[in-house]
Amino acid sequence: MAKIFITRKISDAGIEKLKTAGHEVVVSPHDRVLAKEELMDFLKSGKFDAVLCLLTDKIDNAVFESAGKQVKVFANLAVGFDNVDVEAAKKRGIYITNTPEVLSETVAEHTFALILAIAHRIAEADAFTRAGKYKGWEPELLLGRDVSGKTLGVVGLGRIGSRVAYHGVKGFGMKAFYHDVKRNADFEKEYEAVYKEKLEELLAEADFVSLHVPLLPSTRHLINMDRLQKMKRTAYLINTSRGPVVDEAALARALQGGLIAGAAIDVFEEEPKVHPDLLSLQNIILTPHIASATHETRAKMAQCAAKNIIAALAGQEPPNMVKM
Ligand code: GLV
Repeated sequence: MAKIFITRKISDAGIEKLKTAGHEVVVSPHDRVLAKEELMDFLKSGKFDAVLCLLTDKIDNAVFESAGKQVKVFANLAVGFDNVDVEAAKKRGIYITNTPEVLSETVAEHTFALILAIAHRIAEADAFTRAGKYKGWEPELLLGRDVSGKTLGVVGLGRIGSRVAYHGVKGFGMKAFYHDVKRNADFEKEYEAVYKEKLEELLAEADFVSLHVPLLPSTRHLINMDRLQKMKRTAYLINTSRGPVVDEAALARALQGGLIAGAAIDVFEEEPKVHPDLLSLQNIILTPHIASATHETRAKMAQCAAKNIIAALAGQEPPNMVKM
């Protein structure tokens, strides 16, 4: 029987899967992010064979050291893995896994929820109504902008980005542009999508710019003041990828100065902090990193992480091993 540590309570579906496979599961008794020292103390004292960690855990060489030589896998409950030092894990022969695919549709849905909500001023309108400000129908009350038939610029055409493009093109008759390090001819054909090798060109033409890149040194502050200035004044920026992909201070200035019409973001540069200037703006929607947070998808993510752990403990290469 192998011993598995889970750094915070997750969906029972994942815990049950690990137990059914005959493993002993220890879940952190605290329903909060563990401080690094705390996490290392748990790992040192437990001699675990596998760890199921979250994107809020910083997993570096010191954490691997504290886990001991017997540990085989750290399974991250997320598709992103910028919280893990994958190189350090590789040197130690520890598998790192993520949870791709199972969350793509849900994140694409959340992205579209944000697109529709910012364009139709849903959050503003809700606050307006609750505040008792609705005094009767008006011809020009809270005018938003249409989504249908507009131009959608997808930055990063991976699993999630391509589902967002699918919904835009098939559901709302949008014209899709995409920017990526590589072209996808099949996608272009199927969705009449246009590849923009230069991000600046996509930014200049898109009515909605949606970010779906991983956080890498090359994507940190990919959207900075210079690039925000390239966008249309009527355009919206949507970010469901990672906070540091956008320079938040620059975004706040762009929204204050009317350089773009609005933004809707699910991720922040220094979570859980939100840049104070963003909080006072009307033309932004802020959600607390919940793009994959549905009952169905969080259960699937937990099962996916469990499946990766079960494979690694059986001496197999886990299905979602992160390869660098
Ligand atoms: C969430 O942000 C994830 O990477 O799954």
